[in-house]
Amino acid sequence: MNTKKIIDKIVKTSQGSIDDLVNILHSNCDAYLFKQADQVRKKYCGDEIHLRAIIEFSNHCRCSCSYCGINKQNTTLDRYRMPPEEIIDYAKKAYISGYKTMVLQSGEDPWYTTEKISYILQEIKKLGDIAITLSVGERDYDIYKQWKLDGADRFLIKHETADKALYNSLHPHSSFKNRIKCLKNLKELGYQIGSGFMIGLPGQTLETMAKDILLLKELDVDMAGMGPFISHPKTKLKNYPVGSSYLTLKALALTRILLKRPHLPTTTALEVTNIKDRENAFYTGANVIMRKVQPYKYRKLYEIYPNSTIHEKSIEEERKEVENYIKMIGRKVSITRGDSIEL
Ligand code: 5AD
Repeated sequence: MNTKKIIDKIVKTSQGSIDDLVNILHSNCDAYLFKQADQVRKKYCGDEIHLRAIIEFSNHCRCSCSYCGINKQNTTLDRYRMPPEEIIDYAKKAYISGYKTMVLQSGEDPWYTTEKISYILQEIKKLGDIAITLSVGERDYDIYKQWKLDGADRFLIKHETADKALYNSLHPHSSFKNRIKCLKNLKELGYQIGSGFMIGLPGQTLETMAKDILLLKELDVDMAGMGPFISHPKTKLKNYPVGSSYLTLKALALTRILLKRPHLPTTTALEVTNIKDRENAFYTGANVIMRKVQPYKYRKLYEIYPNSTIHEKSIEEERKEVENYIKMIGRKVSITRGDSIEL
């Protein structure tokens, strides 16, 4: 079968084999793939783009992920923790500016006990009709259960790579098995779950990427984030080349045509490797964009991967800028919480 036919088959049946996916990733049939992904996005998600506020509230981390700039071995980094009241205060500012989803993300930092996170969730929920997405790493079932009761709606925890051996070598503190268990526990507890992976990790092949996309399908994710790997000078992988933003767009488009319903953000990592590609993602399947809202003094220190200089603007100014951009490209700014899309 030629590549166009395989693309048509996936659009129609929502089924594809590893070979089908590798064929598409390998081919130069990108214009056709992107066009189909854009149409599928329009059919299932409409023209609305969801804006999410993200508060990166702590860069302390107990993990040793080989690619991540805030891994615990990096002793040169100034570490910070936002006090709970400050997190709540910034969630309030973001809500007033129009955001209806707060993503609370941090390194795996046990300083934020189950109770502290519960308190933060309850206080943010009191502010109004806000969806809360937690992204704080691997925890036990009972802790996830408690946070769900306290008001957490969604959870982001990427599988990072579907290659088990590669996963285990990049994450010596944990295991692929536990990662997947966390995702399954969260789904069982009724969270809207988000996974995702990096493109261009050393050792990754097109076949691994095909398995990554099929794993998203198997997990039945509600959200999926894909971004190019960017080497960070303070990590073991510092000498490896950055991932391809072109391949990232193809992975995004493929995910859209195969899974249809997940919310797919255009990731910041995509902007770092190629500023145009963050915009292009909106034409290849993406329907979500996140904006950092924590104070700038912290943003500089949340350096998972090297990021360009930031021009300081207020939360309102930044929100207006993105809104204007969305309108300029002929799409709509969502005024809903942007919960899961059911087929
Ligand atoms: N390059 C690209 N993405 C990275 N992440 C972490 N480190 C890097 C890096 N060096 C991504 C991971 C993680 C998310 C918070 O950021 O996918 O889940």
